[in-house]
Amino acid sequence: MNIIKVKDKQELAKKAAGIIAGQVLKKTDCVLGLATGSTPLDTYNNLIQMYQEGLLDFSKVKTYNLDEYYGLERTDSQSYYYYMKENLFKSINIDMDNVHVPDGKAQNVEQECIQYDEMIRQAGGIDLQLLGIGHNGHIGFNEPADELVYGTHKETLTESTINANVRFFNNLEEVPTEAISMGIGTIMESRSILLIGAEGKAEIIEKMISGPITPQVPASLLQLHPDVTVIYVAS
Ligand code: PGA
Repeated sequence: MNIIKVKDKQELAKKAAGIIAGQVLKKTDCVLGLATGSTPLDTYNNLIQMYQEGLLDFSKVKTYNLDEYYGLERTDSQSYYYYMKENLFKSINIDMDNVHVPDGKAQNVEQECIQYDEMIRQAGGIDLQLLGIGHNGHIGFNEPADELVYGTHKETLTESTINANVRFFNNLEEVPTEAISMGIGTIMESRSILLIGAEGKAEIIEKMISGPITPQVPASLLQLHPDVTVIYVAS
């Protein structure tokens, strides 16, 4: 693993955006795996700025998001589709036909999950997957468990994740309890991975980097991936 410690979230965002920009410049039709949550917001702002300065062209880029809340419409302001549109896609020249987020309202969830993984494979696989990390070590919504699921699947969120996400909702009852998430295998198939952690994530990140490889810390599986960069605020 390539580990980069930074002093604050601004430096984190600059470095993360630099790596994503490098990928887009190197392969204009690359496939990016994207993440939501509070950590990537500044990274996305940096990418928007680079686009506005004429440095980046997203017209041929394809994106696949890690996850989506189960039961939410794309138009719901709490959905991850909506988040991506508001925080990145509407401000860059990406073709919305090239944008993919699991369908939280899919009638046949099993089918949706199989198709999602199949679409990624048909696009040639993910060149660079951006990840955040939960305080409990989850990546995407792959929660700590005795067993992890390989492919995209429906996941029941842990209490810790629901409590962590309540800050985005009016109250606890509004937080969805299930999500559709890429599986650990889907993530591990990416050619390269960039995991970012802002303030408060140093402890779990250090556990992920040097602790045992265990499904109880799903991110620890990344120790087995040949091309992972971790950037985190070391405080
Ligand atoms: P955060 O979420 O960026 O909002 O801290 C990360 C995660 O839970 O994966």
